Amino acid sequence: MAEETVTIIDNTTGKRVDLPILRGTHGPAVFDVRKMYAELGMFTYDPGFVSTATCSSYITYIDGDTGILMYRGYPIEQLAAKSNYLEVCYLLLNGELPSTTQLQTFERNIGDHTMVHEGMRSFYRGFWHDAHPMAFLVGAVGAMSAFYHDSTDVSSPRHREISAHRLIAKMPTLAADSYKYSMGQPFNYPTNSLNYSENFLYMMFAVPTAPYEINPIHAKALNLILILHADHEQNASTSSVRLASSSLANPFASICAGIASLWGPAHGGANEAVIRTLNEIEDPKNIPKFIKRAKDKNDPYRLMGFGHRIYKNFDPRATLIRDACHELLDDMGVSDDPLFDTALELERIALEDDYFSERKLYPNVDFYSGIIMRAMGIPVNMFTVIFAMARTVGWIAQWMEMMDDPEQRIGRPRQLYVGHEKRDYIPIDKRP
Ligand code: SDX
Repeated sequence: MAEETVTIIDNTTGKRVDLPILRGTHGPAVFDVRKMYAELGMFTYDPGFVSTATCSSYITYIDGDTGILMYRGYPIEQLAAKSNYLEVCYLLLNGELPSTTQLQTFERNIGDHTMVHEGMRSFYRGFWHDAHPMAFLVGAVGAMSAFYHDSTDVSSPRHREISAHRLIAKMPTLAADSYKYSMGQPFNYPTNSLNYSENFLYMMFAVPTAPYEINPIHAKALNLILILHADHEQNASTSSVRLASSSLANPFASICAGIASLWGPAHGGANEAVIRTLNEIEDPKNIPKFIKRAKDKNDPYRLMGFGHRIYKNFDPRATLIRDACHELLDDMGVSDDPLFDTALELERIALEDDYFSERKLYPNVDFYSGIIMRAMGIPVNMFTVIFAMARTVGWIAQWMEMMDDPEQRIGRPRQLYVGHEKRDYIPIDKRP
C-alpha cells in the first residue's frame, strides 16, 4: 500500500514536501515532520505542544473526548477496582501484569530499598522547618544523585533497574520524612511487613509515644489515589523528565526535574490550590462570586481543579475519586463534610454554566483528591508530594521507554526568533 502522506506546500516559494502519516493503536495519527526543516526550511510552531506528539509510547492511552484512560491497555476503572499500587508499578514498568512469583520478587526488590541513607537524614537538617514539603522533596531527590552514585550509569540496564527500584521504594520514606521534619517529630523507619500504602501512613503518622494502628479505610483510599496518579502520558512533568534525561542526565536528577514541574498550580500543585479555594468559598452561597471571577477575562483567576488540556469530558480519575469520597466519608461515619458538600455544589453550578460547558471544562483529577487526603488527616501542603510519590513510577516507565527507544536523541526544540536585527555595541558614554 502506498505510503500515506500529508503534503505541505509553501505558497510563497512553491516548495512542497510530502510528510509520512504514522498511525498508532488508538488516537490521532501523526505526520512525521522530521525532514520538513531540511526540505522546506521551516519549523513547526506549537507553543505548549497543543498539536505535537513528542514521542511514540506503549505505556498510557488517554481519549479526552470519551474520558478513557488505560495503562498498558488496562482501563483505569478495572485497575482501580482490582489492583494495588505495586502491581500497577510492575505493569507500567514491564508492560504486563505480573505472575504471583514476579510480583513477590518485585515487592521484595522494592522492600530492599525502602530505607534512605542515614547521611540523607543529616542532609535534611539544612532545610528550614517551615520549608514546603515539595521544596524538601526536590532537594532530597536531587541529593540522591550524591548518595546513590553507584546506579547512575544510564547506559547500563542494570543501573536503570536499580535506580527505578530505589526511587519507587524511597519516595514514601522521603515524603514522610518531609512531613516529620516539618512537624519536628522523629523520623520513622519503613516496615516492610506493611504494604506500600500502609507503610507510608505508618511513616507519616506513627509517633514513639503510642502504638500506631493502620486504618484500613485510609490505606484503601491511598492505594486508589496512588493508582490513579501513577501515569498520564506526556503531561508537563513527564515531558520535563524526558527532556532532562534526553541529555543522559542521571535518573535522580531527571526525576527531580519532574517533581519541580509537577509543583506548579497549573499541574500537580492544583490539588493543594483546590482545597484553598474551597476553604475561601467557605459557604456554597459564595460560589457564584468565584464562578464570576473564573469567567472574567480581565482576572487571571482560574477555578482550580477544573479544565484539562486533553479531557474535554469528565476526567475518569475525578469520577472515581468523587465516588471514593462518598465511600470514605460513609465508612468513616462522616455524615457531613462541608468542604465535600461545597465541592459537589461547585461542580454542579460550574457544569450548568455556559462558560464551562462551551469550553468543556470539567473537574480533573485534582478537584476531589484533596478532599480524600484531607479526610485521612494528610495536611494540604503534602498533597502534591503524594501526587509526586504516585507519579514517580510513571516518570520512570517513560524514562526507561525513552532510553530503549532507537529514535531517542537529545531534545532540542527550535524557535521563531522575533528579536532585534543585527546592531553594533554602543559604548556606555554614547548611550542615551
Ligand atoms: C493535572 O496534562 C496532564 O495530564 C496533567 C494531569 C496529570 O495527571 O499529569 O492530568 C494533572 O495537571 C491536571 C490539571 C490541574 N490543573 C488545574 O486544575 C489548574 C486549573 N486548570 C487550568 O489552568 C487549565 O485548565 C489547564 C492548565 C489544566 C489546561 O490549560 P490549557 O489546555 O492550556 O487550556 P487554556 O488555558 O488554553 O484554556 C482554554 C480556555 C481559556 O478560555 P478562552 O481563552 O478560550 O476564553 O478555557 C479557560 C481559559 O481561560 N480555562 C479556564 C480554566 N481552565 C481553562 N477558565 C477558568 N478556570 C479554569 N480552571
